[in-house]
Amino acid sequence: MTLRRRLMLVTTLIVGTVVVAAAGACYLVIRGELRGQVDLALTSQGVLLDRSGGRGPGGMRDRVPELGARQGGPAPYVTVLSAGGRVFVYRGDAALPTSERDLRVAAGNAPAGMSDRRVAGLHLRTLAAPLPGGGAVIIGRSLADVDRTLERLRLVLAVLCLAGIALAALLGRRTADRFVAVLDRLERSQAAQRQLVADASHELRTPVTALRTNTEILLDEPDLPPAQRRALLADVVDQTEELSALVADLIELARGDQPADAVEDVRLDELVAEAVERARRHATHVFFAVELDRVAVDGVPERLGRAVNNLLDNAAKYSPPGATVEVRLRGGELTVRDHGPGVPPEELAQIFDRFFRATNARDRPGSGLGLAIVKQVADRHGGSVRAATAEGGGLAVTLSLPGARAVEQIPAPAG
Ligand SMILES: Nc1ncnc2c1ncn2[C@@H]1O[C@H](COP(=O)(O)OP(=O)(O)O)[C@@H](O)[C@H]1O
Ligand SMILES: [Mg+2]
Repeated sequence: MTLRRRLMLVTTLIVGTVVVAAAGACYLVIRGELRGQVDLALTSQGVLLDRSGGRGPGGMRDRVPELGARQGGPAPYVTVLSAGGRVFVYRGDAALPTSERDLRVAAGNAPAGMSDRRVAGLHLRTLAAPLPGGGAVIIGRSLADVDRTLERLRLVLAVLCLAGIALAALLGRRTADRFVAVLDRLERSQAAQRQLVADASHELRTPVTALRTNTEILLDEPDLPPAQRRALLADVVDQTEELSALVADLIELARGDQPADAVEDVRLDELVAEAVERARRHATHVFFAVELDRVAVDGVPERLGRAVNNLLDNAAKYSPPGATVEVRLRGGELTVRDHGPGVPPEELAQIFDRFFRATNARDRPGSGLGLAIVKQVADRHGGSVRAATAEGGGLAVTLSLPGARAVEQIPAPAG
């Protein structure tokens, strides 16, 4: 059985049991109350009979009690037994059937007692009570009204129970669905984290090994010619930088898998302009041509900034010296286009994968995580990112964010 089914079943069972138990308890209380009223009427009539006293079997006929409203109305069934157990007289459609116990009551060997009996298809509640002069009287009252009320009550409660169970099943299904969805999300995120750790440990091994080899050579060979020594040290510096960039990217990716950061109203054009300023300082060999609409989006500024930086860094990194990088923001769409070598068409679909680096880029430094971060940021903002070969060569990467709002330019005060 699937977890969802099990959850549904358990929820339905628990709620169903509670509903049925509540209905059962309600039924028993009302039944007790209704029958209690009949029993009370019978008891008060029995007490009255007890007080009437007995004067031997001959007088018994007179002792068939007349019972008024104060005793719960006349009892339609009254049967008097002699001490020997003979039926002397009865009132009602028929004499009440006598039991072994009635005979013992008549003989003075048993106390008064209540019981149910049937007479001519009628359901009666009866009290068998000893008479002071010997013998016994059995008084019976019909339970027809009580039975009818209880039958209606059973019907109503059964309908309520069924409705309750149906509701429980419905609720159970929704709860199970929600629970399973949460579990699914958790499992997917866990799998993603595991994959990242696996990929990362694989990717980290190469630079760490290279770094270690170079350091060992430097340590083991103190007599290396200074030029060679300098070259090795320069390598070590490069590898350390590469390693720290890789670690920073990994941390960024792992952070993106965490629960959402606080979302703010972000002026996207200002954020891009700042990122371009930063890129200009870092990449002095290219020009940036910028065209920005004034727009705002809902987003996490640091993460959006990181994504934009990655796009600009790529464009600069893969551009030949003196080339122009075009940065355009239209509505919620930011396009960064360069005039570099682009990506082979058959590899375009993969460039957003973690650690993927196109065949024509593997001689350049990089981790292959920059665009994976861009994609993660786009996904987290409900947006998307795509890459295409630009007309006339080069790569154009477009980041689309939903819910972009144009920001009105406040006119400068006149004069
Ligand atoms: N502007 C670009 N021009 C050419 N190729 C690019 C460009 N941007 C990304 N790529 C390709 O996509 C790959 C993945 O990019 P990215 O994730 O940023 O990794 P990295 O820049 O560390 O190599 C790069 O290795 C490169 O092959
Ligand atoms: Mg990159």
